[in-house]
Amino acid sequence: MIEPKAIIILGGGGHASVIAELLQALKRPILGFVAPQEGEILNYPDIKYLGSDGLIIQNYSPDQIVLINGLGSITVKQNEIRQNLYNSFKEQGYHFETIVHPTSWVASTAILKEGCQIMAGVMIQPNVTIDQNVIVNTRASIDHDCNVGHSAHVAPGVVLSGNVVLGTNVHVGVGATILQGVAVGSHAMICAGTVVTKDIQAYEKFKEWV
Ligand SMILES: CC(C)(COP(=O)(O)OP(=O)(O)OC[C@H]1O[C@@H](n2cnc3c(N)ncnc32)[C@H](O)[C@@H]1OP(=O)(O)O)[C@@H](O)C(=O)NCCC(=O)NCCS
Repeated sequence: MIEPKAIIILGGGGHASVIAELLQALKRPILGFVAPQEGEILNYPDIKYLGSDGLIIQNYSPDQIVLINGLGSITVKQNEIRQNLYNSFKEQGYHFETIVHPTSWVASTAILKEGCQIMAGVMIQPNVTIDQNVIVNTRASIDHDCNVGHSAHVAPGVVLSGNVVLGTNVHVGVGATILQGVAVGSHAMICAGTVVTKDIQAYEKFKEWV
């Protein structure tokens, strides 16, 4: 049997700690994490701080390790930063692990692309496609035939009805609900707790409390 490769987590903040728990639940070996400095630190005795991002390219070739993007995001801008980090390592030949929490449900016909992260308690129904580097966060639910674009973040507790399309880098804020068939353009922000009934343009910020 081929042993899975050891993992390096990019980042050491709150999202990285959620990733660390998920990997421990899957009993995956973690080589350590990289972050700009030892300020924002993953507080797990078994997970080593390895240094800054540059260290990966110096010390590990793409065939020795796999990466997980541990940067979190609460804005579209931060999704773009996550995407740039992902693309820069992909250009150097590195592979990102796709991870699925054991308490989530993913339908057999759903497609999960490289580096996407399916967190605890998530439901993903038939014929859904989740593109690269996407976060589907805690307890989100994505119904049949949805399409989630590259590096989007579907925040905790979001509900996407059937046939929803999210473009690249979209951020859907905590607890938002998007009705069936709605298309959200790339780089759009759906604010926390909103109900989206119509298409949203690229770069639009949708909020309904004003
Ligand atoms: C987009 C967002 C940042 C708000 O952006 P904003 O337009 O800059 O709003 P502000 O922060 O300037 O707040 C303006 C006002 O609206 C209120 N407000 C902000 N977001 C709100 C929301 N989602 N629902 C209702 N009211 C909201 C604020 O309390 C503030 O009220 P005040 O003027 O009475 O003090 C926020 O709604 C959001 O969605 N954040 C993302 C959260 C998230 O997904 N986190 C992921 C964690 S994993």
